[in-house]
Amino acid sequence: MAKKIGVLTSGGDAPGMNAAVRAVCRAALRKGMDVVGIRRGYNGLLNGEVVEMNARSVSGIIQRGGTILYTARCPEFVNKEVQEQGRDKCIEMGLDGIVVIGGDGSFKGAAALSALGIPCIGLPGTIDNDISCTEYTIGYDTAMNTAMEMIDKIRDTAQSHDRCSIVEVMGRNAGYIAINVGAAVGAEAVITPEREYDLEAIANNMIQTKRSGKTHFIIVVAEGVGKTDYITKTLHDMTGIETRATILGHVQRGGSPTVRDRVIATQMGYHAVELLEQGIGNRVVGMKDSKIYDVDIQEALSMTKPFEDDLYDILYKTAF
Ligand code: ADP
Ligand code: F6P
Repeated sequence: MAKKIGVLTSGGDAPGMNAAVRAVCRAALRKGMDVVGIRRGYNGLLNGEVVEMNARSVSGIIQRGGTILYTARCPEFVNKEVQEQGRDKCIEMGLDGIVVIGGDGSFKGAAALSALGIPCIGLPGTIDNDISCTEYTIGYDTAMNTAMEMIDKIRDTAQSHDRCSIVEVMGRNAGYIAINVGAAVGAEAVITPEREYDLEAIANNMIQTKRSGKTHFIIVVAEGVGKTDYITKTLHDMTGIETRATILGHVQRGGSPTVRDRVIATQMGYHAVELLEQGIGNRVVGMKDSKIYDVDIQEALSMTKPFEDDLYDILYKTAF
Protein backbone atom coordinates (compact mmCIF):
# COMPACT_ATOMS: atom_id res chain seq x y z
CA MET A 1 0.00 0.00 0.00
CA ALA A 2 1.65 3.22 -1.20
CA LYS A 3 1.60 6.18 1.18
CA LYS A 4 3.54 8.65 -0.94
CA ILE A 5 3.96 8.70 -4.69
CA GLY A 6 5.67 10.85 -7.29
CA VAL A 7 4.60 11.77 -10.80
CA LEU A 8 6.87 12.87 -13.63
CA THR A 9 6.72 13.59 -17.35
CA SER A 10 9.59 12.43 -19.53
CA GLY A 11 10.62 12.51 -23.20
CA GLY A 12 8.69 14.74 -25.62
CA ASP A 13 5.72 16.59 -24.15
CA ALA A 14 2.18 15.94 -25.38
CA PRO A 15 -1.14 17.73 -24.92
CA GLY A 16 -3.06 15.95 -22.19
CA MET A 17 -0.06 15.30 -19.97
CA ASN A 18 -1.39 17.93 -17.57
CA ALA A 19 -4.75 16.19 -17.46
CA ALA A 20 -2.91 12.98 -16.52
CA VAL A 21 -0.87 14.74 -13.83
CA ARG A 22 -4.07 16.23 -12.44
CA ALA A 23 -5.81 12.86 -12.33
CA VAL A 24 -2.83 11.15 -10.66
CA CYS A 25 -2.54 13.89 -8.07
CA ARG A 26 -6.24 14.15 -7.23
CA ALA A 27 -6.82 10.37 -7.20
CA ALA A 28 -3.84 9.78 -4.92
CA LEU A 29 -4.80 12.57 -2.53
CA ARG A 30 -8.35 11.23 -2.39
CA LYS A 31 -6.96 7.82 -1.45
CA GLY A 32 -5.02 9.40 1.40
CA MET A 33 -1.58 9.37 -0.23
CA ASP A 34 0.92 12.21 -0.34
CA VAL A 35 1.98 13.31 -3.82
CA VAL A 36 5.07 15.03 -5.17
CA GLY A 37 5.60 16.35 -8.67
CA ILE A 38 9.05 15.49 -9.98
CA ARG A 39 10.26 18.12 -12.42
CA ARG A 40 12.10 17.55 -15.70
CA GLY A 41 11.75 13.79 -15.85
CA TYR A 42 14.45 11.55 -14.43
CA ASN A 43 16.77 14.58 -14.10
CA GLY A 44 14.46 15.98 -11.43
CA LEU A 45 14.47 12.67 -9.60
CA LEU A 46 18.27 12.62 -9.51
CA ASN A 47 18.53 16.30 -8.52
CA GLY A 48 15.70 16.17 -6.01
CA GLU A 49 13.79 18.77 -8.04
CA VAL A 50 10.40 17.98 -6.57
CA VAL A 51 7.34 19.92 -5.45
CA GLU A 52 4.83 18.83 -2.83
CA MET A 53 1.39 18.74 -4.43
CA ASN A 54 -2.05 19.37 -3.08
CA ALA A 55 -5.41 19.43 -4.83
CA ARG A 56 -4.91 23.08 -5.76
CA SER A 57 -1.50 22.40 -7.37
CA VAL A 58 -3.37 20.93 -10.33
CA SER A 59 -6.28 23.39 -10.51
CA GLY A 60 -6.85 25.01 -13.87
CA ILE A 61 -4.41 22.82 -15.81
CA ILE A 62 -6.67 20.25 -17.49
CA GLN A 63 -7.11 22.51 -20.52
CA ARG A 64 -3.45 23.48 -20.85
CA GLY A 65 -0.98 22.00 -23.34
CA GLY A 66 2.59 21.18 -22.37
CA THR A 67 3.35 19.85 -18.91
CA ILE A 68 3.45 21.86 -15.69
CA LEU A 69 6.10 19.42 -14.45
CA TYR A 70 8.37 20.26 -17.40
CA THR A 71 9.98 17.42 -19.28
CA ALA A 72 13.48 16.47 -20.26
CA ARG A 73 15.61 13.69 -21.57
CA CYS A 74 18.10 12.19 -19.15
CA PRO A 75 20.45 10.06 -21.28
CA GLU A 76 22.55 8.91 -18.31
CA PHE A 77 19.53 7.13 -16.83
CA VAL A 78 20.37 4.11 -19.02
CA ASN A 79 23.28 3.41 -16.62
CA LYS A 80 22.68 1.03 -13.73
CA GLU A 81 24.60 3.23 -11.23
CA VAL A 82 22.45 6.23 -12.17
CA GLN A 83 19.27 4.17 -11.84
CA GLU A 84 20.49 3.11 -8.37
CA GLN A 85 20.98 6.79 -7.50
CA GLY A 86 17.36 7.30 -8.61
CA ARG A 87 16.25 4.45 -6.38
CA ASP A 88 18.20 5.96 -3.44
CA LYS A 89 16.54 9.33 -4.03
CA CYS A 90 13.11 7.66 -3.93
CA ILE A 91 13.99 6.03 -0.62
CA GLU A 92 15.35 9.35 0.71
CA MET A 93 12.10 11.11 -0.25
CA GLY A 94 9.96 8.27 1.08
CA LEU A 95 8.43 7.56 -2.33
CA ASP A 96 6.56 4.26 -2.54
CA GLY A 97 5.97 4.54 -6.26
CA ILE A 98 6.16 6.77 -9.33
CA VAL A 99 3.84 7.40 -12.25
CA VAL A 100 5.97 8.00 -15.34
CA ILE A 101 4.21 9.72 -18.22
CA GLY A 102 6.16 9.35 -21.45
CA GLY A 103 7.07 6.93 -24.22
CA ASP A 104 8.91 3.63 -24.56
CA GLY A 105 12.23 5.16 -23.47
CA SER A 106 10.67 6.51 -20.30
CA PHE A 107 9.08 3.10 -19.64
CA LYS A 108 12.54 1.49 -19.72
CA GLY A 109 13.57 3.84 -16.90
CA ALA A 110 10.36 2.92 -15.06
CA ALA A 111 11.11 -0.80 -15.49
CA ALA A 112 14.64 -0.28 -14.15
CA LEU A 113 13.38 1.53 -11.05
CA SER A 114 10.69 -1.12 -10.52
CA ALA A 115 13.37 -3.83 -10.66
CA LEU A 116 15.27 -1.90 -7.99
CA GLY A 117 12.24 -2.00 -5.69
CA ILE A 118 10.40 1.24 -6.51
CA PRO A 119 7.08 0.32 -8.15
CA CYS A 120 6.55 2.44 -11.26
CA ILE A 121 3.61 2.72 -13.62
CA GLY A 122 4.03 4.02 -17.17
CA LEU A 123 1.37 6.13 -18.88
CA PRO A 124 1.68 6.48 -22.66
CA GLY A 125 2.20 10.16 -23.44
CA THR A 126 3.28 11.00 -26.98
CA ILE A 127 1.66 12.61 -30.00
CA ASP A 128 3.05 9.83 -32.23
CA ASN A 129 0.74 6.97 -31.10
CA ASP A 130 3.74 4.70 -31.66
CA ILE A 131 3.56 2.74 -28.40
CA SER A 132 2.76 -0.85 -29.25
CA CYS A 133 0.94 -1.94 -26.11
CA THR A 134 -1.79 0.66 -26.50
CA GLU A 135 -4.30 1.63 -29.14
CA TYR A 136 -4.03 5.20 -28.00
CA THR A 137 -1.44 7.57 -26.58
CA ILE A 138 -2.15 10.80 -24.73
CA GLY A 139 -1.68 13.76 -27.10
CA TYR A 140 -2.38 11.94 -30.37
CA ASP A 141 -5.84 13.34 -31.00
CA THR A 142 -4.86 16.93 -30.26
CA ALA A 143 -1.81 16.72 -32.51
CA MET A 144 -3.88 15.29 -35.36
CA ASN A 145 -6.54 17.96 -35.00
CA THR A 146 -3.87 20.67 -35.01
CA ALA A 147 -2.24 19.21 -38.11
CA MET A 148 -5.63 18.95 -39.82
CA GLU A 149 -6.46 22.60 -39.11
CA MET A 150 -3.06 23.72 -40.39
CA ILE A 151 -3.41 21.69 -43.58
CA ASP A 152 -6.91 23.05 -44.18
CA LYS A 153 -5.32 26.51 -44.13
CA ILE A 154 -2.53 25.38 -46.44
CA ARG A 155 -5.16 24.08 -48.85
CA ASP A 156 -6.66 27.58 -49.16
CA THR A 157 -3.43 29.01 -50.49
CA ALA A 158 -2.56 25.91 -52.56
CA GLN A 159 -5.97 26.28 -54.24
CA SER A 160 -5.52 30.00 -54.95
CA HIS A 161 -2.14 29.35 -56.59
CA ASP A 162 -2.93 26.08 -58.41
CA ARG A 163 -0.12 24.48 -56.45
CA CYS A 164 0.80 21.19 -54.91
CA SER A 165 1.53 21.43 -51.17
CA ILE A 166 3.69 18.82 -49.56
CA VAL A 167 3.12 18.83 -45.81
CA GLU A 168 5.43 17.03 -43.41
CA VAL A 169 3.83 15.91 -40.17
CA MET A 170 5.50 14.52 -37.05
CA GLY A 171 5.48 10.92 -35.88
CA ARG A 172 9.14 10.07 -35.37
CA ASN A 173 9.45 6.73 -37.23
CA ALA A 174 5.72 6.09 -37.42
CA GLY A 175 3.07 7.15 -39.92
CA TYR A 176 -0.05 7.05 -37.72
CA ILE A 177 -0.45 10.83 -37.62
CA ALA A 178 0.24 11.06 -41.36
CA ILE A 179 -2.28 8.46 -42.49
CA ASN A 180 -5.10 9.71 -40.26
CA VAL A 181 -4.51 13.38 -40.96
CA GLY A 182 -4.11 12.58 -44.66
CA ALA A 183 -7.51 10.88 -44.65
CA ALA A 184 -9.04 13.77 -42.70
CA VAL A 185 -7.84 16.47 -45.10
CA GLY A 186 -8.58 14.48 -48.26
CA ALA A 187 -4.94 14.29 -49.28
CA GLU A 188 -4.17 13.04 -52.76
CA ALA A 189 -1.35 10.91 -51.35
CA VAL A 190 0.23 10.02 -48.04
CA ILE A 191 3.81 8.87 -47.79
CA THR A 192 4.73 6.95 -44.65
CA PRO A 193 7.70 4.84 -43.53
CA GLU A 194 5.52 1.73 -43.24
CA ARG A 195 4.60 1.47 -46.93
CA GLU A 196 6.52 1.58 -50.19
CA TYR A 197 5.78 4.63 -52.28
CA ASP A 198 6.05 5.35 -55.98
CA LEU A 199 6.61 9.01 -56.84
CA GLU A 200 6.17 8.33 -60.53
CA ALA A 201 2.70 6.86 -59.94
CA ILE A 202 1.75 9.82 -57.75
CA ALA A 203 3.05 12.24 -60.41
CA ASN A 204 1.14 10.45 -63.17
CA ASN A 205 -2.07 10.62 -61.14
CA MET A 206 -1.51 14.33 -60.61
CA ILE A 207 -0.97 14.95 -64.34
CA GLN A 208 -4.04 12.94 -65.32
CA THR A 209 -6.37 14.48 -62.77
CA LYS A 210 -5.10 17.94 -63.65
CA ARG A 211 -6.32 17.25 -67.19
CA SER A 212 -9.74 16.38 -65.78
CA GLY A 213 -9.93 19.71 -63.96
CA LYS A 214 -8.16 19.25 -60.62
CA THR A 215 -6.21 22.40 -59.85
CA HIS A 216 -4.35 21.79 -56.59
CA PHE A 217 -2.97 18.91 -54.56
CA ILE A 218 -2.17 18.09 -50.93
CA ILE A 219 0.38 15.39 -50.17
CA VAL A 220 1.10 14.45 -46.56
CA VAL A 221 4.55 13.07 -45.75
CA ALA A 222 5.48 11.50 -42.41
CA GLU A 223 8.71 12.94 -40.99
CA GLY A 224 10.07 9.39 -40.60
CA VAL A 225 10.34 9.09 -44.38
CA GLY A 226 13.10 11.70 -44.12
CA LYS A 227 12.85 12.88 -47.73
CA THR A 228 10.43 15.78 -47.79
CA ASP A 229 12.68 18.11 -49.81
CA TYR A 230 13.54 15.37 -52.30
CA ILE A 231 9.86 14.43 -52.72
CA THR A 232 8.91 18.09 -53.24
CA LYS A 233 11.54 18.67 -55.90
CA THR A 234 10.93 15.36 -57.65
CA LEU A 235 7.16 15.83 -57.91
CA HIS A 236 7.69 19.34 -59.25
CA ASP A 237 10.15 18.10 -61.86
CA MET A 238 7.92 15.16 -62.86
CA THR A 239 4.65 17.13 -63.13
CA GLY A 240 5.67 20.72 -63.86
CA ILE A 241 3.16 21.72 -61.15
CA GLU A 242 4.44 24.40 -58.82
CA THR A 243 5.16 22.71 -55.49
CA ARG A 244 5.80 24.00 -51.98
CA ALA A 245 6.86 22.16 -48.82
CA THR A 246 5.66 22.96 -45.31
CA ILE A 247 7.08 21.28 -42.23
CA LEU A 248 4.47 21.62 -39.49
CA GLY A 249 6.95 20.80 -36.70
CA HIS A 250 6.43 21.52 -33.03
CA VAL A 251 3.12 23.34 -33.50
CA GLN A 252 1.70 19.79 -33.42
CA ARG A 253 2.95 19.30 -29.85
CA GLY A 254 1.22 22.33 -28.36
CA GLY A 255 -2.25 23.61 -27.70
CA SER A 256 -5.20 22.82 -25.52
CA PRO A 257 -5.93 19.07 -25.45
CA THR A 258 -9.07 17.75 -27.12
CA VAL A 259 -11.90 16.04 -25.24
CA ARG A 260 -10.46 12.64 -26.14
CA ASP A 261 -7.02 13.45 -24.78
CA ARG A 262 -8.36 14.94 -21.57
CA VAL A 263 -10.73 12.04 -20.89
CA ILE A 264 -8.28 9.24 -21.67
CA ALA A 265 -5.50 10.97 -19.71
CA THR A 266 -7.85 11.20 -16.73
CA GLN A 267 -8.86 7.54 -16.97
CA MET A 268 -5.27 6.36 -17.36
CA GLY A 269 -4.03 8.55 -14.51
CA TYR A 270 -6.69 7.20 -12.21
CA HIS A 271 -5.90 3.60 -13.18
CA ALA A 272 -2.19 4.15 -12.48
CA VAL A 273 -2.95 5.27 -8.94
CA GLU A 274 -5.20 2.28 -8.37
CA LEU A 275 -2.26 0.01 -9.24
CA LEU A 276 0.22 1.83 -7.00
CA GLU A 277 -2.33 1.82 -4.20
CA GLN A 278 -2.09 -1.98 -4.28
CA GLY A 279 1.71 -1.87 -4.35
CA ILE A 280 1.73 -3.00 -8.00
CA GLY A 281 4.52 -1.67 -10.23
CA ASN A 282 6.31 -2.45 -13.47
CA ARG A 283 3.11 -1.99 -15.51
CA VAL A 284 2.10 0.25 -18.39
CA VAL A 285 -1.45 1.51 -18.58
CA GLY A 286 -2.86 1.39 -22.09
CA MET A 287 -5.99 1.04 -24.14
CA LYS A 288 -7.08 -2.27 -25.62
CA ASP A 289 -10.40 -2.82 -27.41
CA SER A 290 -11.24 0.75 -26.36
CA LYS A 291 -10.88 -0.15 -22.65
CA ILE A 292 -8.23 0.93 -20.17
CA TYR A 293 -6.00 -1.96 -19.13
CA ASP A 294 -2.47 -2.57 -17.83
CA VAL A 295 0.37 -4.78 -18.97
CA ASP A 296 3.84 -5.78 -17.74
CA ILE A 297 6.44 -3.24 -18.95
CA GLN A 298 8.78 -5.82 -20.51
CA GLU A 299 5.87 -7.38 -22.33
CA ALA A 300 4.72 -3.93 -23.44
CA LEU A 301 8.19 -3.14 -24.81
CA SER A 302 8.33 -6.40 -26.78
CA MET A 303 5.02 -5.85 -28.57
CA THR A 304 4.65 -4.64 -32.15
CA LYS A 305 1.89 -2.47 -33.49
CA PRO A 306 0.26 -3.00 -36.85
CA PHE A 307 0.06 -0.12 -39.30
CA GLU A 308 -3.35 1.08 -40.45
CA ASP A 309 -3.20 -0.68 -43.80
CA ASP A 310 -6.97 -0.58 -44.34
CA LEU A 311 -7.08 3.18 -43.95
CA TYR A 312 -4.03 3.54 -46.18
CA ASP A 313 -5.72 1.55 -48.94
CA ILE A 314 -9.02 3.40 -48.58
CA LEU A 315 -7.19 6.72 -48.77
CA TYR A 316 -5.57 5.80 -52.08
CA LYS A 317 -8.86 4.38 -53.41
CA THR A 318 -10.67 7.64 -52.66
CA ALA A 319 -7.91 10.08 -53.67
CA PHE A 320 -7.74 11.78 -57.11
P1 ADP B 1 10.23 8.58 -24.86
O1 ADP B 1 9.97 8.29 -23.43
O2 ADP B 1 9.26 9.57 -25.44
O3 ADP B 1 10.39 7.33 -25.69
P2 ADP B 1 13.12 8.94 -24.91
O4 ADP B 1 13.38 7.74 -25.74
O5 ADP B 1 13.86 10.20 -25.23
O6 ADP B 1 11.59 9.39 -24.96
O7 ADP B 1 13.37 8.53 -23.40
C1 ADP B 1 13.08 9.44 -22.36
C2 ADP B 1 13.99 9.19 -21.21
O8 ADP B 1 13.76 7.87 -20.69
C3 ADP B 1 15.47 9.22 -21.53
O9 ADP B 1 16.00 10.52 -21.60
C4 ADP B 1 16.03 8.46 -20.34
O10 ADP B 1 16.02 9.28 -19.20
C5 ADP B 1 14.97 7.36 -20.14
N1 ADP B 1 15.38 6.14 -20.85
C6 ADP B 1 15.39 5.92 -22.18
N2 ADP B 1 15.90 4.71 -22.47
C7 ADP B 1 16.22 4.14 -21.29
C8 ADP B 1 16.78 2.88 -20.91
N3 ADP B 1 17.14 1.95 -21.81
N4 ADP B 1 16.96 2.64 -19.60
C9 ADP B 1 16.62 3.56 -18.67
N5 ADP B 1 16.09 4.75 -18.96
C10 ADP B 1 15.89 5.06 -20.24
O1 F6P C 1 7.87 11.95 -30.01
C1 F6P C 1 7.27 13.19 -30.24
C2 F6P C 1 8.05 13.97 -31.27
O2 F6P C 1 7.42 15.22 -31.45
C3 F6P C 1 8.24 13.26 -32.60
O3 F6P C 1 7.08 13.33 -33.41
C4 F6P C 1 9.41 14.00 -33.16
O4 F6P C 1 10.15 13.17 -34.04
C5 F6P C 1 10.24 14.30 -31.94
O5 F6P C 1 9.37 14.20 -30.82
C6 F6P C 1 10.86 15.67 -31.93
O6 F6P C 1 11.64 15.77 -30.80
P1 F6P C 1 12.27 17.14 -30.27
O7 F6P C 1 11.28 17.78 -29.38
O8 F6P C 1 13.48 16.69 -29.55
O9 F6P C 1 12.56 17.99 -31.47
